[in-house]
Amino acid sequence: MLFGKFSIFLALFILFAAFQEPALAIKKSYIVYLGGHSHGPEVTAADLRRVTDSHTQLLASFLGSEEKAKDAIIYNYKRHVNGFAAVLEEEEAAEIAKHPDVVSVFPNQGKKLHTTHSWDFLMLERQGVIHPSSAWKKARYGEDTIIANLDTGVWPESKSFSGHGYGPIPSKWKGICQFDNKAGPLCNRKLIGARYFNKGFEAYAGKLNSSYCTPRDTDGHGSHTLSTAAGNFVPGASVFGVGNGTAKGGSPKARVASYKVCWPPINGSECFDADIMKAFDTAIDDGVDVLSVSLARIRDNTVSPMRDADYQGATPFAYGSGHIRPNRAVDPGLVYDLTLNDYLDFLCGIGYSQTQIRQVAGIHYHKCPEDYSILNFNNPSITVLNVRGTVNVTRTVKLVGKPGIYAARLRAPYGYSISVEPNILQFKKTGEEKSFKLIITVHRASSTVYGFGELIWQDSTHYVRSPIVLSAADP
Ligand SMILES: *[C@@H]1O[C@H](CO)[C@@H](O)[C@H](O)[C@H]1NC(C)=O
Ligand SMILES: *[C@@H]1O[C@H](CO)[C@@H](O)[C@H](O)[C@H]1NC(C)=O
Ligand SMILES: *[C@@H]1O[C@H](CO)[C@@H](O)[C@H](O)[C@H]1NC(C)=O
Ligand SMILES: *[C@@H]1O[C@H](CO)[C@@H](O)[C@H](O)[C@H]1NC(C)=O
Repeated sequence: MLFGKFSIFLALFILFAAFQEPALAIKKSYIVYLGGHSHGPEVTAADLRRVTDSHTQLLASFLGSEEKAKDAIIYNYKRHVNGFAAVLEEEEAAEIAKHPDVVSVFPNQGKKLHTTHSWDFLMLERQGVIHPSSAWKKARYGEDTIIANLDTGVWPESKSFSGHGYGPIPSKWKGICQFDNKAGPLCNRKLIGARYFNKGFEAYAGKLNSSYCTPRDTDGHGSHTLSTAAGNFVPGASVFGVGNGTAKGGSPKARVASYKVCWPPINGSECFDADIMKAFDTAIDDGVDVLSVSLARIRDNTVSPMRDADYQGATPFAYGSGHIRPNRAVDPGLVYDLTLNDYLDFLCGIGYSQTQIRQVAGIHYHKCPEDYSILNFNNPSITVLNVRGTVNVTRTVKLVGKPGIYAARLRAPYGYSISVEPNILQFKKTGEEKSFKLIITVHRASSTVYGFGELIWQDSTHYVRSPIVLSAADP
């Protein structure tokens, strides 16, 4: 069963999306999420047909005929996400949501683009856990690494995407280039793929003209994020940059691909869930290693009965669960490791039942721990909302570099004090894990603003930084 961290990330995205209030409209597009697939990582054409048929059958049982089901379906999610997007009446959507095979049904809603440069990177893995440092070594510091974004597309003529000086396209690449290429091929050895997804947007905005049938970036955001993401992926070293690499070990150059899911805004919405999911599902299959997403997925202010009070307003995108931000360099020193089980426990922690979790993960066995605090989910970033008095947060770091001594340096947000116990970690051998506790006390902080701080574990050469985001409880 293919189910790595990335898939659980998607699952979280979908589950949070499902918390949206249903809007009152007659026919709208919805995403019907069915959890995991039973097929393995080597997906055959027969597997894909079987998935499509199962979606048609399921929907036909509600709409009355296969014909109607096929007409209603916008997208089938067949590879890594199991589900489909379809135009439905609200009552139909509500009925479908009750089907035992259905995990959730949620409206295909629009999002805005992030205008700041706070990208979230997802390192995709195909089987099990990847060790960030070894993965980058194997990837020869990016030479065969494929970085993609989900954004407004790409301007292929930009100098940033010149293929000059690059070796052959990595053989694992299965993606395509959807430019019309009238004036010659626009993709090259640097920009190896470009696709667009607009059916979800179209389901909202109505029939689109040909200017919506291209991955070309008429906005500039996507080209900018894609070129800068490649350069910034490992901050401080242009390991993945288009210029000469400065990192030890060579001058590696990543390949890039663009998945256009954002269009000129209609009523404030630019990028729709149905298209984003299709792009995710496709990008993994195309062979993308790292995805950057800068969609404003912040779903704050929506009330969710299943959300833990401490995490109200937080989303996987917002606080980073399930995304892996590879550390500052190819030699990070320490990593915050997470297993699939940690993610499943996290789902328990935010209120999902064991049955739901098994369905989402496509696994037969998982038991929720009896006392679990999502505060201790071993994410490198530390977010505690609604702090009252003192809150303790535990994290575990694993040594992936040479043995040594790391010392903590803390910067607490205004209005809080933070201490770390212990504040020195001594590692004797690679692979060793050490836990520490952050003791966070609120003194005079506002409940309406976020306080930002950081924790840094430092030895003589490494610098392992965790952002800290806090907000105080209402007085
Ligand atoms: C955009 O909003 C306006 C005003 O609320 C509404 O009339 C229009 O139908 C909306 N457009 C779409 C495509 O929903
Ligand atoms: C397509 O639609 C866009 C936005 O409504 C418009 O600006 C553009 O002129 C149209 N293009 C064509 C070829 O009709
Ligand atoms: C990159 O390296 C080449 C060959 O060493 C050199 O000619 C070129 O000026 C360098 N470019 C930059 C941007 O440093
Ligand atoms: C938090 O940690 C401090 C210091 O180790 C300890 O004294 C305190 O009891 C802990 N509080 C909770 C709620 O666990």
